[in-house]
Amino acid sequence: MTNDPNGSQAAAERGITLGEIGHRIVLENEFVRIWEVKLEPGETIDFHLHYHPYIVISLGGGENEVETIFGETRPTNEPLGHTIFMNEMRPVHKLTNKSDVTYLSRLVELKHITWTDEGAPDKPEPAPQPVMPEDAADAFREILIQTADMEWVDKSLDGLSQKMLWRNEETGASIALVRFKKGAGIPNAHAHASNQFMYCLSGRYTYIPTNTVLTPGTFYCNPTGSVHGPTICEEDCVLLEIYDGPHYPVRPPWYDNDEDAR
Ligand SMILES: [Fe+2]
Ligand SMILES: [Fe+2]
Repeated sequence: MTNDPNGSQAAAERGITLGEIGHRIVLENEFVRIWEVKLEPGETIDFHLHYHPYIVISLGGGENEVETIFGETRPTNEPLGHTIFMNEMRPVHKLTNKSDVTYLSRLVELKHITWTDEGAPDKPEPAPQPVMPEDAADAFREILIQTADMEWVDKSLDGLSQKMLWRNEETGASIALVRFKKGAGIPNAHAHASNQFMYCLSGRYTYIPTNTVLTPGTFYCNPTGSVHGPTICEEDCVLLEIYDGPHYPVRPPWYDNDEDAR
């Protein structure tokens, strides 16, 4: 081989088309391109070449093996947190997960430097990667909340607290975890200005006039305007409570502020 320091000619002669350096682009802007690399035990990411300096941060894994196009192999150990920085072009290589756990990492390419592959006469630059349009990222609007990390917020009714998970400020609809302490309850009969749904996660909560008892696994609904209560919590309970609109027509007397009533 005359001048093929990175093995791209060797790859071409063997009919190997170089692949991507990762499985999915997580984020890209003018400065960086961040890939996810995920290999199940025994799995390989195929021969590829890096054109930018890069950092690899392991999110989990173990023994891997790098094999270059020249047949050299090198074991790596990449457990969670393992971090490397590559500041020069290396020969075409592939990576195989040699452990019995999934290997997951983020590979951050630093785009301000682009290396030239001396051995690739007609392909100095890789084909442009599919780039997510700037505004496409806005299409992903998922929200994940770990409710265990939230504090219970006391309301102005004794023994009642909540974790507000979601609220639509325009419609008044909301989803919350509500917790009643044993002996607490809503003191009056009342109705809501929207449909109310409850799913009991723990404890025991009773609507006194109808002896409707919520226990873990029960689902309860008050259609808009349906009169119910008073209520009593017979065992500390947690309910997932959903309203599809405003909670009350007017602030009920058991709350001393408007915030608690919405
Ligand atoms: Fe690589
Ligand atoms: Fe109610």
